[in-house]
Amino acid sequence: MGSIVKSMTEDEMKQAAQWFSSLKAGPWVKVVETDTVPKSYVGKGRMRFVAPGNETEPLGLRVVELPEDPIAATKRDPRSGFVAYVPKGSVARGAALVTTGGAGKTMACAACHGADLKGVGDVPRIAGISPLYAARQLLGLKNGDRGGDSAVMMKAVTANLGEEEIVSIVAYLATLAP
Ligand code: HEC
Repeated sequence: MGSIVKSMTEDEMKQAAQWFSSLKAGPWVKVVETDTVPKSYVGKGRMRFVAPGNETEPLGLRVVELPEDPIAATKRDPRSGFVAYVPKGSVARGAALVTTGGAGKTMACAACHGADLKGVGDVPRIAGISPLYAARQLLGLKNGDRGGDSAVMMKAVTANLGEEEIVSIVAYLATLAP
């Protein structure tokens, strides 16, 4: 990205920003609960693709995101979506944590992110965000990799979240309309 940005004028950056903000969000990711997933590998663009041979493997405590159309995804087609395979029961577990805070495990997200989780002021939208992105942010906010003045507000929210809770929360958030 560094070399791409260096050759852009400020005007071109504004034009690009306007174009991106004119795109309609989602539905990018379709959430599917399952015990087994197609075997996959990390390929071009650091995306996962189905491995040749059509074999399956246990999902375990993971979110595995695979493109609906591998060729379109490789070409970065903004209209081509992904399927996120999540553990069985994770959407319901995530819904409980997000809406109630799970009896002190975390906090009800709507308190800051807004009733529909679509953001309020500087607090970002979390409804319908990419589950892999969301999981990375929650881990980063928990361990301090993502810092800054506003990140402090997520400290208590993430302090007691384990892997299962994070997987469940991001699975649920991905089912919501952006
Ligand atoms: C006390 C207020 C507060 C509560 C409660 C809260 N958040 Fe946040 N959250 C924030 C703020 C503020 C940010 C922006 C942090 C920053 O700027 O780095 C944020 C950022 C995030 C992000 C990163 C979004 C992005 O676009 O990068 C995620 C994901 C997130 N919150 C999830 C949650 C979830 C899930 C819950 C409920 C379990 C929750 N938050 C509850 C205040 C809150």
